[in-house]
Amino acid sequence: MRSEVHRLKVNGEEREVTVAGDTPLLWVLREQLGLTGTKFGCGEQLCGACTVLIDGAAERACGTSVADAVGSEILTIEGLKQGGVLHPVQQAWLDERVSQCGYCQPGQILAVVALLGESPRPTDREIDLALEGNLCRCGTYPRIRRGVHRAAALLAGEEPT
Ligand code: FES
Ligand code: FES
Repeated sequence: MRSEVHRLKVNGEEREVTVAGDTPLLWVLREQLGLTGTKFGCGEQLCGACTVLIDGAAERACGTSVADAVGSEILTIEGLKQGGVLHPVQQAWLDERVSQCGYCQPGQILAVVALLGESPRPTDREIDLALEGNLCRCGTYPRIRRGVHRAAALLAGEEPT
């Protein structure tokens, strides 16, 4: 496929990239736009490390072509903080010390933002099901669950316990 200009909306900004239309969005984010918070894990849509939000849904950037992303709102981990304030999921992650090596965590956090958008008070079972495609080699799953419950409380304006 020939290189051509694609206009993307990433973290609220219009960006222009010149690549072949079938280039994975993951490479465009990391290599063209310098947004390296989106991680390369497997490149096969199996690990969730490259999860970004596309129109609010958690999607695998390694399995999404740049051409397919044109016309959508793309949100990466770099765009989650607003006005210098951490997103409640990021705050909960710090409060619960969820991250270990951290490699999988941008994808985990964005998957949780999508989950809480659909299900504001998920059960442990719902959390496990929603995140089963986001692998963590460090095994932070119990802390991820606690982080999700804390973020849900923060988003509801409650004092987390
Ligand atoms: S790098 Fe995309 S799912 Fe693993
Ligand atoms: S925190 Fe290390 S892979 Fe998840």
